[in-house]
Amino acid sequence: MQNVNVRADTAQTDRLEVVSMKAMLGAEVRCGDLRKLDDAGIAALRQAWLDNLVIVVRGQTLSDPELMAFGRRLGDLDSAPLAKTGSEKARAHEEVIVVSNVMENGVPIGVLRDAEVVWHSDNSYRDVPLSFSALYALEIPPTGGNTGFANMYRALETMPADLRQRIDGLTIKHDMTYNSAGDLRDGFKPVADVRDAPGPSHPIVRTHAETGYNALYLGRRPNAYIDGLSVAESEELLNALWMHATQPHLTWHHQWKVGDLLIWDNRCVMHYRAPFDGGHRRVMHRIQGKGDKPTLRADAKAASHPRSRAEAR
Ligand code: OGA
Ligand code: MN
Repeated sequence: MQNVNVRADTAQTDRLEVVSMKAMLGAEVRCGDLRKLDDAGIAALRQAWLDNLVIVVRGQTLSDPELMAFGRRLGDLDSAPLAKTGSEKARAHEEVIVVSNVMENGVPIGVLRDAEVVWHSDNSYRDVPLSFSALYALEIPPTGGNTGFANMYRALETMPADLRQRIDGLTIKHDMTYNSAGDLRDGFKPVADVRDAPGPSHPIVRTHAETGYNALYLGRRPNAYIDGLSVAESEELLNALWMHATQPHLTWHHQWKVGDLLIWDNRCVMHYRAPFDGGHRRVMHRIQGKGDKPTLRADAKAASHPRSRAEAR
């Protein structure tokens, strides 16, 4: 456990506590009502997020405008325009995506249904993907629907040398056709050949623009393609990378309660959602922050990210 005493610039901030999960990533930040956090508190929370890759703040009561106002204190919001499948209800706020299985008059109120959501990093299929995503729980089912995270700093660091060598200098083409629940996005055609799937290429190893550490950057497995290889070679190498990157010891899974706000860093984690019984309602509101174009920098730090060190567990 790590305690951070936040010096109060205003009367509201008292104590912000960061409790690390017993895993390779993740922490609970205890800071009371997020709406009342002053600038020093926000800075400490943001640092806890960079240090732990994903944080959960529990017991919140946030309207959409309050969620957006909080998000803007972390960074510029993005509206993730391609998250639309086209069949769901129009968004009330462009920056707020509803993630839900609930139907109203035969129309889904949101995206991703009750399906398994395969491991992925949000919006990797864009030239400039997201920095953070923040998911706020309004209604949750009694069981199922846990959200898991995997530490991609650690995945890179623990990669067998021969595999690490094989990906040197390579890029992955990230398909934008389907979302992580397997639904076709609005305006896209099914993929016949992964080499023709629409989407940008990004380096397989990227340097985190804020922390300076390198991380493995895989995006999403379906329809991914490693540029320049035959499809068979690409499939074989991708399978080896994914086997390595999603091993349970690299992960932490969150069990939701109403009022939880989970904030993760798409530049250094992947996430996964377990399916749940569609007879129960799950309603989450998501905001997301603008990121940067993935790049591998020559001046990246050579050391391990502190949260990825064995003693941090
Ligand atoms: C997302 C996502 C997982 C979940 O919102 O980006 O992948 O737990 N959601 O609903
Ligand atoms: Mn996601």
